[in-house]
Amino acid sequence: MAKAKDTIFFCKECGYESAKWAGQCPACHEWNTFVEAPSQKIPKGVSGTARRSLRLNPEVKPVSMSEITATERERTQTGMQEFDRVLGGGIIPGSLVLVGGDPGIGKSTLLTQLCKNLSDQGHKVLYITGEESLAQIKLRADRIGSFTDNMKLLSETDLETIESAIRSEVPEVAIIDSIQTMFSPEATGAPGSVGQVRECTNLLMQLAKGIGVSIFVVGHVTKEGVVAGPRLLEHMVDTVLYFEGDKHASYRILRGVKNRFGSTNEVGIFEMRSDGLKEVKNPSEFMLTGRPENASGSIVSCSIEGTRPILVEIQALVARSGLGNPRRSSAGIDYNRMNLLIAVLERRLGLSFSECDAYLNIVGGIRINETALDLAVIIALASGYLDFVVDAGTIAIGEVGLSGEVRSVNLMETRVLEARKLGFQTCIVPKSSLASLKNISGITIIGVDNVKDAINKVRK
Ligand code: TYD
Ligand code: MG
Repeated sequence: MAKAKDTIFFCKECGYESAKWAGQCPACHEWNTFVEAPSQKIPKGVSGTARRSLRLNPEVKPVSMSEITATERERTQTGMQEFDRVLGGGIIPGSLVLVGGDPGIGKSTLLTQLCKNLSDQGHKVLYITGEESLAQIKLRADRIGSFTDNMKLLSETDLETIESAIRSEVPEVAIIDSIQTMFSPEATGAPGSVGQVRECTNLLMQLAKGIGVSIFVVGHVTKEGVVAGPRLLEHMVDTVLYFEGDKHASYRILRGVKNRFGSTNEVGIFEMRSDGLKEVKNPSEFMLTGRPENASGSIVSCSIEGTRPILVEIQALVARSGLGNPRRSSAGIDYNRMNLLIAVLERRLGLSFSECDAYLNIVGGIRINETALDLAVIIALASGYLDFVVDAGTIAIGEVGLSGEVRSVNLMETRVLEARKLGFQTCIVPKSSLASLKNISGITIIGVDNVKDAINKVRK
């Protein structure tokens, strides 16, 4: 029988394990990343019984649910309602939170503001940066305001030094900016490589749970939109938040993707100003400022972000194309969804979009992936194509099916009430939703069956 090997090969980048060496990793397709390492199997020559006793600790005993006493530990308020909402009501002591986002989106600003609020309330915080010098941090901090001595800064990338600093300072909250710059001498690879990220996160996790400090870790996002390093990072931490938005627009959304201590369908909305991030308490008003008057191709719809309704303006520009292959572009809406809706218009209403370029945009740079916007997209495109103006006080909500039928979406009442609150007079909804909306007064609700019906209702 072949002798069992006591070393294995694993990929430095993604951690993939294999018995044989390979030039290219089958999991992450990186070249020359395989290294040999001792396997951690139980040594040979140990009998079956001994093996089992190695694995099983006789002291370990399962307990029944009723024997466990757990009280919700006090959460620390961040001083930003939008942030608290996404965390599920505040910071849990000893939690490890990953804040992901594109470079330059405002992660460091958000966390510096968090530190300011916490230190102003008398909590001890430690901000550790591996990206910027202390002077750079100071420049940013000066834009945000003045800081008390409860906030301490450290510029360091060696995680062991950081660990001892945290152990001696014992802050309530520590910030690690960013995980990709940190390294642990224990692990191989350059900072930011998978092995390093995994080792560092592990260390931080143990530290957080061990001494009860809450740690916020910044993670940069790759082109594909995931936190650099493996998915593994997301599995290891308690909470994953993404900070997103268009760099050229001023609003930012903080979205919970995973939360061991709360729900994930909450978002926090912020605006980037010259003096830091400001919370946006009324996002609909914010999104609709500066709407053009009497312009074709524009209509408002209502999306639900988390549990909150947000009104957004959808704009379409349809122009005769000089090319055989007309140009299509969408910002804020899924490109394929737009093509599908254009096909519905072409087929069900006979509008020949194949001769036209079409551009679609959600104003404000917000990205929305919700079928409730379909009807408004259809109306905006038709309005752009046929060059008619939709009344500015009209809003459209509904999903559009492939036969051109308009279908109901969830939380219809919440959406219509938000439109009424912002002074809209007419609401175009699917006919099937009318029954559930009959108690709403103060706004004219029009039910439609299909897209043709809808366009006839808004066309003057
Ligand atoms: P930053 O927090 O450094 O981004 P990240 O840590 O995610 O890489 O902030 C990036 C941008 O925010 C930067 O381009 C400048 C802008 N900014 C403001 O507009 N106002 C401010 O008060 C601050 C501090 C930054
Ligand atoms: Mg930063």
